[in-house]
Amino acid sequence: MSNVAVIGSQWGDEGKGKIVDVLSREADVVVRFQGGHNAGHTLVVDGETYKLHLLPSGVVRKNKLSIIGNGVVVDPKALLWEIDNVKKQGIEITPENLMLAENATLILPVHPALDIAMEEARGAKKIGTTGRGIGLAYEDKVARRGIRVCDLAHPEYLKERIENMLAYHNAALKGMGAETLNTIDVYDELMGMSDKILSFSGVTWKAIDDADKAGKKILFEGAQGHFLDVDHGTYPFVTSSNTVAAQAAAGAGVGSKKIGYVLGITKAYTTRVGSGPFPTELEDDIGETLGRKGHEFGVSTGRKRRCGWFDAVLVRQAIKTGGIDGIALTKIDILDDFDEIKVCVAYDLNGKEIDYLPASTVDQANIKPIYKTIKGWKGKTQGARSWSDVPGDAVKYIRYIEELIEAPVALLSTSPDRDDTILMQDPFNS
Ligand code: IMO
Ligand code: MG
Repeated sequence: MSNVAVIGSQWGDEGKGKIVDVLSREADVVVRFQGGHNAGHTLVVDGETYKLHLLPSGVVRKNKLSIIGNGVVVDPKALLWEIDNVKKQGIEITPENLMLAENATLILPVHPALDIAMEEARGAKKIGTTGRGIGLAYEDKVARRGIRVCDLAHPEYLKERIENMLAYHNAALKGMGAETLNTIDVYDELMGMSDKILSFSGVTWKAIDDADKAGKKILFEGAQGHFLDVDHGTYPFVTSSNTVAAQAAAGAGVGSKKIGYVLGITKAYTTRVGSGPFPTELEDDIGETLGRKGHEFGVSTGRKRRCGWFDAVLVRQAIKTGGIDGIALTKIDILDDFDEIKVCVAYDLNGKEIDYLPASTVDQANIKPIYKTIKGWKGKTQGARSWSDVPGDAVKYIRYIEELIEAPVALLSTSPDRDDTILMQDPFNS
């Protein structure tokens, strides 16, 4: 038996929410370890759709402990809003089922203000961030200017920290012609939320250690995806955290050996939201069709996602550099009606064939995908719940992908519904 980390192997939006939900049936504890409310994880349970951003996807099940780990950047207002919002759907969030790391960094109003102002200043070169202040909060954390959940319990210290942070950022806001913020307003707003936020705060690393000692199963829920990782992604068009499974250890406060099986959530085609290189992007009818059938609109920002064919070079790189043991292949049903399907098997960079994504943004923009075209199965994988329901040519496609990415498909998802899932390998028991 092992713990499991679920991470995205592309540019996010691979269907992590659904897979975490499926696996959380078996898990006792679900932990978010990086990112913030830039994530948008969709779960469909008995026809009811839940859209989660900051809350771990385990919250929709009873008797599970959900943990927001120290590696997450937490906007307290967004957290309380989300708690209220899921309550309307009948889900109670209490300190019994949600724990927030006392050492998690807070996102304050200055962070989205700067995020938006800086994106505007970048003009055509914008990153296409979610505008939630994620990157700015991580910058402050690394710059040792950050404010953490535990600081809410010490009002005088908190005020000092806000003053220090604003002294730094207001100059930049002013320079960009944006409105500045004042310490007292920020302080008052935080103090208005502090009791509620602190009621969830705790020593999360201990809670995880206790669960581990008691033999409980822990599921680490990643956000974003491998190519949005600040080290391994399409820098600078990335998010500001490490999204790889190794980050689960640092972002939750557990030893790296505790992470267990790493499941890479992988869409049967590719999407990306925001700017940046995307070798297999399709700016044609096929791309439109993928987007329409796959409902490719951002859960967090409503933006239309860019769509393209499956890129095996990318996913193989995610598997190698991220330590992925097996993948959950999602949205295979979106490919059901295509006459032919293309898979990117290598890149052409200035006339030379390469089998990896180069680091340079300039090179990434210049590479051309080399495709292998395969026959579509023109049959229904949608809703398949057993291997025998999957058309033969679709099985061939899956086997071909396994060969190219050098990892097994452990799980196949055939619709957004939690029950439309075929498990080939149980990550908790492999
Ligand atoms: P989930 O967890 C897809 C993208 C943004 C932008 C870049 C940086 O739902 O898969 P940020 O606001 O993080 O500074 O934006 O990262 N991005 C995501 N794209 N899915 C996500 O999360 C994302 N979270 C951030 O679009 O390109
Ligand atoms: Mg998303």
